[in-house]
Amino acid sequence: MKSIRVAIAGAGNCAWSFAQFTAQAQADPDTRLPGLMCHTLGGYRLADVTIVAAFDVDEAKVGLPLAEAFTAPAVSATRFTPLGADRDAPVLPAPLFDGLDGPLGAVVRTAPAVADATPEDVAKALVEHEVDVLVIALPTGASQAIRMFARAALTAGTAVVNCTPEELARDEAVARGFADAGVVLLGDDLRSHLGATCLHAALIELLLSRGLELESTYQLNVGGNTDFLNLADTARSASKFTSKSNALRAAGMTDVDGVAGPSGFIGHLGDTKLCFANVTASSVLGSEVRIDIKLTVEDSPNAAGVIANAVRAAKTAGDRGLSGAVDAPSPLLFKSPPRGLPESQARAAFLDFAS
Ligand SMILES: NC(=O)c1ccc[n+]([C@@H]2O[C@H](COP(=O)([O-])OP(=O)(O)OC[C@H]3O[C@@H](n4cnc5c(N)ncnc54)[C@H](O)[C@@H]3O)[C@@H](O)[C@H]2O)c1
Repeated sequence: MKSIRVAIAGAGNCAWSFAQFTAQAQADPDTRLPGLMCHTLGGYRLADVTIVAAFDVDEAKVGLPLAEAFTAPAVSATRFTPLGADRDAPVLPAPLFDGLDGPLGAVVRTAPAVADATPEDVAKALVEHEVDVLVIALPTGASQAIRMFARAALTAGTAVVNCTPEELARDEAVARGFADAGVVLLGDDLRSHLGATCLHAALIELLLSRGLELESTYQLNVGGNTDFLNLADTARSASKFTSKSNALRAAGMTDVDGVAGPSGFIGHLGDTKLCFANVTASSVLGSEVRIDIKLTVEDSPNAAGVIANAVRAAKTAGDRGLSGAVDAPSPLLFKSPPRGLPESQARAAFLDFAS
């Protein structure tokens, strides 16, 4: 039977929602789940995915089985369903590096075992747990820790899905290292399943397809989970601004005045994310068209929908003998793939790859 063994670096909100989505699929493998774009991808159902290990640094998570780790105070994503086969996967200590720099350091206490954890331990654990795909879901801006996980995966020969905006797939040297080793690397920065980026990009594509000229655009995002807390620190959020702009440029935004990024932490929102976006364009006879949208989503399930596709795409790419940064599925799954595409072309390329 086909199966995919997954490890997650960062047992936070995205990981929690992804584990629940996987549990929902495992409980009822042949039912079509809302939000699951492809029931099978490269021949894999979501039910064929098992989380076999996770890595974290939080003392409320390290050393616990996955299901218990997700009861830690820092986890705010909604509890929809209990975990299934993955509930006892171990949460292993990881080297800290810059993982909790900035505001996160005030809300997460580091587990004692983290002091002794080494990158070699991470690579060894990936081999011992026979991990096919490592999902890197660390805080944005934790460059050293994120790159450490990528190197450990390369050493272990484990494919990587980079949920963060850290440049891995876009870094030619990193991508070449994976290609030379015959290992798949997908990234960078998850493009949420139906989130601000895909909606904004689709709007821009629509206006341009009708011959309108884009005059200005913005996208403001606020939320109350630890991702938004971390992103409130401008030293941590720079790569997220770049990544969101990359996505809008791929949609057709050129030199217009465009701003898109995280815009603030509002604690009581928890895992709810609000996006306010505006597009202003000029149309027939110079007449103005303005579109203002407000999108409300639960942030982490929205990430889980993409991770469900990305881990299966990574395994499928490996099965097909591909390696390094793989183009075809990436523009739909990530905000900053090596080569971005407008939404409709990204979807067509992804569905072609998935079939
Ligand atoms: N919709 C979304 O939620 C979404 C969309 C796109 C991208 N992303 C990105 O995905 C990433 C994860 O987001 P999240 O909401 O799950 O964040 P989170 O804050 O809930 O989880 C991050 C986890 O990483 C752990 N961590 C910190 N340093 C570590 C280290 N050195 N080793 C191992 N674990 C470490 C933290 O303890 C925490 O459990 C972020 O970079 C975010 O920007 C999320």
